[in-house]
Amino acid sequence: MKYQLLEIEPLTPRIGAIIHGVDLTRPLSDEMFSEIHDAWMDHLVLFFRDQAMTSEQHLALGERFGELHIHPAAPYADNNPALMKVHTDKDSLRNNGEGWHSDVSADIEPPMASILHIHQTPGQGGDTLWANMYEAYDALSDPIKTLLDSLTALHTADYTGLYGEHPPQRENPRAEHPVIRTHPVTGRKGLFVNSGFTRRIKGISLAESDALLAMLFEHVKNPNFHCRFRWLPDSVAIWDNRCTQHMAIWDYYPQTRSGIRVTVKGDKPF
Ligand code: SIN
Repeated sequence: MKYQLLEIEPLTPRIGAIIHGVDLTRPLSDEMFSEIHDAWMDHLVLFFRDQAMTSEQHLALGERFGELHIHPAAPYADNNPALMKVHTDKDSLRNNGEGWHSDVSADIEPPMASILHIHQTPGQGGDTLWANMYEAYDALSDPIKTLLDSLTALHTADYTGLYGEHPPQRENPRAEHPVIRTHPVTGRKGLFVNSGFTRRIKGISLAESDALLAMLFEHVKNPNFHCRFRWLPDSVAIWDNRCTQHMAIWDYYPQTRSGIRVTVKGDKPF
């Protein structure tokens, strides 16, 4: 049996699993962390219920995965920029993460992991969708895979005005990444363009780039690649930005949905 400590309840055969038998508020033993990491590699996004984590416990969980990432511009809690606020209420003009994206892929070294702890949920709605980018790549035809394998794309972000009066932490990021990246742990290939940040495929005409990106952004929307998670207060999700995209649904206006995201640095995609 692969898992001795965890009980794994897959949400779909392709992506997402609810994990039972772990208390994220306590330090994780090496054995427990290793099982969580294996389950993460197998299911890409893990969900945990009833985890009343403090900010300190949330930060400690993030640090178990690696060095923490600081969002370029988002407001944060407790005077600590590693505690990114994810908050939408009746006064919000937009919802964080509304379109399909991989977190801050415009960074030269985009984050590998995001750990979202939702504190307050609306009565209904506010679900998040995740999409499996290995499956998205595998589902492409061989001639298109061959074409994309050789291409790189420009990712940019412009956070100007998105967070009201909150001053940015650093300059807007900009980076070029392979259109198809290889996951550094699993060795699997995945599609790495997203409608949130990818602007232009390099080395081809603008018309060709626009057409290819439009096709790929549409491809990512295929529900066969997706799972959907219903949040409850103190639910936690840990997702792998190297092989997934996600989008947060804003169907609960004017209600409030609120939480904190701790994000973990990744390496340069190859
Ligand atoms: C995000 O993109 O980190 C937000 C996800 C969510 O609010 O569910």
